[in-house]
Amino acid sequence: PTNSSFNNHVSDPIPPILGGPDWKDSRQAIEFENDVENDTGSQTQLVNLKRTMGLMGSISLIVGTMIGSGIFVSPGGVFERSGSVYLGLIIWVLCGILSTFGGIVYIELSSVIPSSGAEYSYILSTFGAIPGFLTSWAQLTLIKPALTTGICLTLAQYLVDPFVDDVEQAKWAVNLVSSIAIIFITYLNCLSTNLANRIQIYTTVAKLVAVAIIVVGGIYNLCVGKTDHLAPDFGSTEKSAGKLASAFYSGLWAYDGWNQLNIVTEEIKDPYKNLPRAIFIGLPLVTICYLLVNISFLTAMSNVELIASSSVATLYGDRVLGVMSWLMPLSVVLSTFGAANGSLFTAARMTYVAGREGHLPDFLSFVDVKRDTPSTSLILNCIISVALTIAFDINGLIDFFSFAAWIFYGATAASMIVLRYTRPDANRPFRAPIWMAVIVILMSAFLVIAPVAQEPQIEYLYSGLFIIGGLIFYVPFVHFKWVLPGMEKFTVLVQKTLLVIPPEGLDE
Ligand code: ARG
Repeated sequence: PTNSSFNNHVSDPIPPILGGPDWKDSRQAIEFENDVENDTGSQTQLVNLKRTMGLMGSISLIVGTMIGSGIFVSPGGVFERSGSVYLGLIIWVLCGILSTFGGIVYIELSSVIPSSGAEYSYILSTFGAIPGFLTSWAQLTLIKPALTTGICLTLAQYLVDPFVDDVEQAKWAVNLVSSIAIIFITYLNCLSTNLANRIQIYTTVAKLVAVAIIVVGGIYNLCVGKTDHLAPDFGSTEKSAGKLASAFYSGLWAYDGWNQLNIVTEEIKDPYKNLPRAIFIGLPLVTICYLLVNISFLTAMSNVELIASSSVATLYGDRVLGVMSWLMPLSVVLSTFGAANGSLFTAARMTYVAGREGHLPDFLSFVDVKRDTPSTSLILNCIISVALTIAFDINGLIDFFSFAAWIFYGATAASMIVLRYTRPDANRPFRAPIWMAVIVILMSAFLVIAPVAQEPQIEYLYSGLFIIGGLIFYVPFVHFKWVLPGMEKFTVLVQKTLLVIPPEGLDE
């Protein structure tokens, strides 16, 4: 097939990956009042998510989700865990290269399996129902909410910091503000996909401006000779593999989001062109920005100060920007707001696809009848994210997240190689080099195994148990297709309260 066959799907429903949902028995087509736009008069009118994202939107989704909280909270983590400035900077660049390799592998996968859902859809098609289900389960309960929460906690930290001194009070205030942010962003996403896309574009522009301001300040500092903290130093370089892997966790948190477009392939206009372009533009751009921002930070503060500060950008602003120092916390708030918006946007799409495939309750795939937004899925993600906000602090979340996420990134890279053999004739307008997939697999093995073996933390145990624990739900509800008593009534209640209906393609 040529590029155009992908485009032919624009208004077509995407066929279910495994031949259709299993939990659909609980669903009922319900009648809505005549106030539905474009009402066709039929009782079972179906709506679907539309292809609304062009190149700008696609780049914004990648760049705007990647640049969020990480560059403002994890520089300290990377430098502390790597033990030296130089190794820290090298790790920042290596994280960028690894993410770019991941992105390139995902470009190939997006054409072999044109369905939305990224890791979930690829693992499901390659390795079958159980790994597929566990992916959707982990994404719904752990990975996606941890992302949203981590970003919003940073947003709240920067908002609260200037106003509250008392540590205990600040903790409460941060949790409260973070939860409000999550709810507000969910609300905006439920209102309109276009609005979410626009917020994404504007905040991406804003954060690129903030990055430019930091970098210009850094260049100025370098020109006036403030290079003390950049003097060659490999002195206390960390040699433990577990510590190094956890330094990567901090860095990779900042780069996470490189897979965002694959989660929403079905909503990208002309995905064969726009998805690769956005990845090839976005990933190198972010890598360069991060390297320059880190160097800029180090022109204004020492490694030690950087590690100690919980709001590095504010400190940088105070030292470098003078009367304009207020710009920094404001930029961080905008940047994290945009990243949280992008994260929630795709989190809901991932659950939406799994609901459509029958791996999660099908009401999660229902779409708002007037607004074409996956509101049920958005709301569930919001509820879990708020719960995590209360349970974890930001550093615990980053480790928790990275450990779980890299299991699935590695498995997905393996699926690229397996699919070359199992579907040799599939559509591959772009072929990623096999060695890139191998590097992603090896790195993910290192990232998952080294910290558990050498720096065990209770977070890793929780993540692992939780992921496997998904089987408790898989066996009865997906494999044996049991319908919970009351599920039908609950589904109808959800439909009537939220005014949502099944997407096109769910009804045969
Ligand atoms: N890189 C983002 C940040 O620094 C966090 C991860 C967002 N990733 C995602 N898939 N939503 O804040």
